[in-house]
Amino acid sequence: MDSPTEPTPAGALTLEQEKQVAAAAALRWVRDGMLLGLGTGSTSAQFIVQLGAAVRGGLRVQGTATSVGSEALARQVGIPLVEPRRGLRFDLAVDGADELDAQLRLIKGGGGALLREKVLETASDYLLVVADSSKLVPRLGRFPLPLEVVPFALPWVLDALGALGGAPVVRMAQDDPTATYFSDQKNLLVDCHFGQIADPEKLAAQLKTIPGIVEHGLFLGLAKAAIVVRNGEALVLRPGEEARPAAAFAALP
Ligand code: A5P
Repeated sequence: MDSPTEPTPAGALTLEQEKQVAAAAALRWVRDGMLLGLGTGSTSAQFIVQLGAAVRGGLRVQGTATSVGSEALARQVGIPLVEPRRGLRFDLAVDGADELDAQLRLIKGGGGALLREKVLETASDYLLVVADSSKLVPRLGRFPLPLEVVPFALPWVLDALGALGGAPVVRMAQDDPTATYFSDQKNLLVDCHFGQIADPEKLAAQLKTIPGIVEHGLFLGLAKAAIVVRNGEALVLRPGEEARPAAAFAALP
């Protein structure tokens, strides 16, 4: 866990400050009239708060949130919300990640919202990831891979994951280690420890064959760009391209 109080080299940003910088840079992608997918987690929360300030300053956007928590925050900061409906597509989704690699393949779900995140981000024309410097990894898998699982199916899902070498652990509630964690959909979360994932596409395909797994936290081919903070600067990563300073992208008028 990062903490704003952890000592950092002189002048270096804490991870909390990096999240704020990444979130501020993401506002450059927002345009008047956009329909937005709003992510979940501490970095997304920074974005929602800063977007709310822009809305209160006159920006006209609407959003749909990827969790009950993000919806409450969006409401609190004044972002108009849109209910899910057929045909609804988002111009832009902004969300954090637990890990990302240079191809912008992601592990998500550390905050338990991976199902709604994948639904909204699949329905978005552009997924922009916002991340502090700890999230970029050479290979996915240091962070346990979250899965959302139907409670009835749990024993067989655990057997199947064990056979795949995933060392599955059922997630417990943060505030009560004796109680299981439930997602917004009242499903369970299972965290898998595959170690370094050599072939994320192959693993994603294998997980899709296990009945009872509602969704997995590998987000492949969804992110178009990522803002990652390095040495205090927000950099834009796109697959196959050199990192570029976010400041080079046109800001909101
Ligand atoms: C929520 O379920 C996750 O996918 C988050 O997007 C992810 O855990 C990143 O969260 P932080 O921004 O808090 O690191």
